[in-house]
Amino acid sequence: MILEIKDLVAGYKSGPNILHQVNFQLHANEIVTIIGPNGAGKSTVLKSIFGITNLRDGKIIHGSRDITGLGTDQIINSGIAMVMQGNNVFPDLTVEENLDMGAFTRKNRGEIKKKKKEIFKFFPVLKKYRKKRAAVLSGGERQMLALGMALMLSPEVLMLDEPSIGLAPKVMQEVFDKILEIREQGTAILMVEQNAARALEISDRGYVLELEKNALEGPAKDLLKNPRVGELYLGKKK
Ligand SMILES: Nc1ncnc2c1ncn2[C@@H]1O[C@H](COP(=O)(O)OP(=O)(O)O)[C@@H](O)[C@H]1O
Ligand SMILES: [Mg+2]
Repeated sequence: MILEIKDLVAGYKSGPNILHQVNFQLHANEIVTIIGPNGAGKSTVLKSIFGITNLRDGKIIHGSRDITGLGTDQIINSGIAMVMQGNNVFPDLTVEENLDMGAFTRKNRGEIKKKKKEIFKFFPVLKKYRKKRAAVLSGGERQMLALGMALMLSPEVLMLDEPSIGLAPKVMQEVFDKILEIREQGTAILMVEQNAARALEISDRGYVLELEKNALEGPAKDLLKNPRVGELYLGKKK
């Protein structure tokens, strides 16, 4: 197991509990998707793992290490990266400068250069526009840049909050194809998606979060066939 969330209770600042006894597991090399209605707490799960909520109970284990309560920079250094939903690039910086920002905890210039070369090979569109400001990129290109920034630190676990939101179907497929390639290179993926059907199609397992709690879980192909999931999240009629 690469990441385990056990009986997590969390909220924001001094506000009420948002997550109540939430449990998730991510194995090495898996793609796991969390689906659920708006406001169910999906983003809060990812933010809790990333150290930006107030954790009140439960544990977060990364590999053999307890990372509960660590600061975000320590969590990043432990090998976990996150792509936030929307506004996840610096619009006034160039593509290349954004990638440099993604490497902010790497000190070795040679390593940064090498990693950037890899990212440019993996995302040719970023190489093509390396000197352009991120503001002029399309939505899909910007999402590729956000993925590239997250990969600059070679994370073991990549968390993605709604990676396909606002993208046209063709571009969405390109983003999902890249996510599959990232997994093939050995990074485990935990993602949150409104677009449940497409996300589950590329996932190994899925979890349904409802009312700030786990509601259902299983192999992605079983969730895709589950009538209740179909009706509520996949737009299938009863
Ligand atoms: N920064 C915040 N401060 C206070 N409450 C928040 C914050 N972000 C989200 N919430 C609340 O947490 C609940 C879960 O939100 P969220 O995790 O964003 O759900 P989802 O991603 O499933 O749509 C909602 O009731 C929302 O209003
Ligand atoms: Mg959300």
